[in-house]
Amino acid sequence: MATLLTIQGGKPLQGRVRVRGAKNLVPKAMVASLLGSEPSELRNIPEIRDVEIVTSLLAIHGVKVDHDLEAGSLTMDPRETRNATYSEIDTHAGDSRIPILFCGPLMHKNGEAFIPDLGGCRIGDRPIDYHLEVLRNFGAVVDKQPSGIRISAPKGLLGAKLELPYPSVGATEQVLLTAVLAEGITELKNAAVEPEIHDLIQILQQMGAIISVNTDRTIRIEGVERLSGYRHRAIPDRNESASWASAALVTQGDIYVEGAAQRDLTAFLNTYRKIGGEFEVYDDGIRFWHGGGALQPLVLETDVHPGFMTDWQQPMVVALTQAAGVSIVHETVYENRFGFTHALQRMGASIQLHRECLGSNPCRFGQRNFLHSAVISGPSKLHGADIDVPDLRGGFSHLIAALAAEGTSRVTGIEVINRGYEKFLDKLTGLGADVELSER
Ligand code: EPZ
Repeated sequence: MATLLTIQGGKPLQGRVRVRGAKNLVPKAMVASLLGSEPSELRNIPEIRDVEIVTSLLAIHGVKVDHDLEAGSLTMDPRETRNATYSEIDTHAGDSRIPILFCGPLMHKNGEAFIPDLGGCRIGDRPIDYHLEVLRNFGAVVDKQPSGIRISAPKGLLGAKLELPYPSVGATEQVLLTAVLAEGITELKNAAVEPEIHDLIQILQQMGAIISVNTDRTIRIEGVERLSGYRHRAIPDRNESASWASAALVTQGDIYVEGAAQRDLTAFLNTYRKIGGEFEVYDDGIRFWHGGGALQPLVLETDVHPGFMTDWQQPMVVALTQAAGVSIVHETVYENRFGFTHALQRMGASIQLHRECLGSNPCRFGQRNFLHSAVISGPSKLHGADIDVPDLRGGFSHLIAALAAEGTSRVTGIEVINRGYEKFLDKLTGLGADVELSER
């Protein structure tokens, strides 16, 4: 039986939601516990699918994981780590990309690691070439097999001088989780510096690691012999915060996002104000609301931090369908992140996709055959439609489009949204949304 979400649109979302730890930090922090020789505690844990997946992946590697749902905390005891079989890893990895980040810790602990075929959202090819390249530079042996990739470190792992072709978040995390216990110094140039990376660095430093971040995207790690455990409160999920902020704009509503942090949303808040959204910052959150006037069109280019984040692009595109005029969105991080606009076009939005770099910064995809720019004309009246969720952020964007649309929408595939949005149906209902879940 599949679930069907029926949405009656046209009601502004009003009220309060709570955002907890970042989906793009918590699973990595859980993997970091594997590096320790003592238990670790992580707080501010959201109840999302990705946490369940990593909990089971840690368990099959012998880590005792206790998830206190009430307190929203996790304790992870890595003192009896063991190898897991390929099929165990494959079974538990499901559609997550997290297994690739187990490589460093497992090679330090067990001398080898296994990466099954990776999933994740279909917003691009999502190759792992940078990951494999940095692991080889640490001295790892990469052995591609039919069922996946076996990585081993017969001579141990040595610090290395590395430079990423693009400031990849995942590859930077790969280097951090490997270099901290590698012998000698590692220097990583052109590193990612997202807030989630800084939070992971704080965790590793608590465990005993020596890591410095220079202003020129260079991270320097002095390998140590032993790491202890950590006690840490995960940073709030800036992507979920930005999604609810966009929901307030699109439905002409007013939402207080408890847990939202201004420091991680600077580029988003600038854009939010330019389009005609209003916000007020409080100690424990941010209030977002529609300013009441016509939304303003704008030119938006996604980029790595501190630029406008690619995961904020999809909800913001829905808001731009309501702006009075022509907007341009140039997606520079993923080559195929406009698939979700097809459903918006069926709902009445006017969106044309282009292969050119329609922004001021030509990107990696410019000369290649990818529809990675969008021209959006508005305002367009949205009407209900049947929608199948394509990916996590695209799915949430479809929900807010359906909530702003006239009439009824029937949405399938909403399970994908559980991967990154904690209790989103309860939150929508709490904000006054007219939604009904049924089996079909
Ligand atoms: C993380 O993905 C996030 N996911 C993504 O959020 C986010 O969009 C992305 O960082 C960028 O900020 C998690 O943290 C779980 P990348 P990651 O390595 O690490 C290319 C969401 O919706 N690349 O920075 O996989 C890659 O194809 C998700 O929450 C290579 O070419 O992203 C992409 O074009 C979606 N080779 C670009 O770099 C590699 O080996 C950025 O990828 C690695 C990456």
